[in-house]
Amino acid sequence: MKAQKVMTSNAFKEIFKQYKRRQPPPDLSQVIDFKKIPHDYRIIEHSLKDPPPSIPRPYGARPIDQLHMYSISNLPGFFIIPNALTDLGQHFWMLRCLKQLPNVPHKCNLDLHLTAPREEDSSLFDESKDVFEKSSKQRSDLYSLAIYKLRWVTLGYHYDWTSKIYQDDDFTPFPLDMGDLARYIASAIGYSDDYRAEAAIINYYHSDSTLSGHTDHSEKDLQAPLLSVSLGLDAIFLLGGQTLEDVPTAIYLRTGDIVILWKEARLAYHGVPRIFENTCMSPLEDIVIEDASVLPDCIVDEIDSYTEERNKSAGKMLVKDPQTPEYLRYQMGHSFYEHYLKYTRINMNIRQVNIHKDEECNIKTPVKRQKLS
Ligand code: OGA
Ligand code: MN
Repeated sequence: MKAQKVMTSNAFKEIFKQYKRRQPPPDLSQVIDFKKIPHDYRIIEHSLKDPPPSIPRPYGARPIDQLHMYSISNLPGFFIIPNALTDLGQHFWMLRCLKQLPNVPHKCNLDLHLTAPREEDSSLFDESKDVFEKSSKQRSDLYSLAIYKLRWVTLGYHYDWTSKIYQDDDFTPFPLDMGDLARYIASAIGYSDDYRAEAAIINYYHSDSTLSGHTDHSEKDLQAPLLSVSLGLDAIFLLGGQTLEDVPTAIYLRTGDIVILWKEARLAYHGVPRIFENTCMSPLEDIVIEDASVLPDCIVDEIDSYTEERNKSAGKMLVKDPQTPEYLRYQMGHSFYEHYLKYTRINMNIRQVNIHKDEECNIKTPVKRQKLS
């Protein structure tokens, strides 16, 4: 493999630019893809431990015996659990991030432009959906919607983007299910059975979005790992070192992957230079639902809404004229959620903010080494 050429002292920026480029498209041969690991000598596999009975498996997470955790030899402190969420679990978290978590009392980028606070029962998703339903339902109609302009949501301690701090008094209750997911993962990786998810940033990316190189250094507890859950479109994640001069490694991320930045990587520069179009996850309609009795409300609502849509447009499906909105709708999917899904990546970035005593830290040594090539 030939080494990547870096021309400036800001290696991070240089590599970031390479992956961001549209024409000609970037060379992806150096990107580490955990779907192709048997061919990569840099990958190390680690064991995961079963969380104690006090930390049951949260909805949407796969059982521990179906998970694998890897690290990369030149990136100490970076871990990844590919495909850690079930197919339905990915939709569950997508729907949570779209329909519920942007709403009051949580905060989002759109709040900065409002003259009055949002109403408690207002829903960005429902409002956007209503507007979209009345439009010609083409891709360009999506761009003007509030839900499409959503860039970030903060939960728990609200990150202040200007001062880059968490204020003690700027806190709203952290979603319990996200806390449970974080605790399950933190226990499984051997960090602690008492991880406290106290702040999260949900990032909303579209196919042209990027997240430039940065470090997350505002938490008081810099020992606790950052947990980062990917949903939706595929992306390239760049992870460098403590300075922008360190040459970053590119990692291919897919929906359901969980990245853990811990130890040496906890304060490393990282960013997202690229989102890939046409990598949308399977629509909710195509997923086999094994146990409908345990479906969370947001999934039930979504299934009801697309069933209703399908029934409504059943007669119009026979329309063969590609100029009609009905035809476009038929081609693009049945629900507003499905339209949105085609152009979106979501990242839930979960952090413990405060220092709590009694946290033991005992990552297992590698148990398997992948074949050298
Ligand atoms: C962040 C972050 C990475 C991602 O929100 O701080 O680094 O994968 N996100 O979106
Ligand atoms: Mn970050």
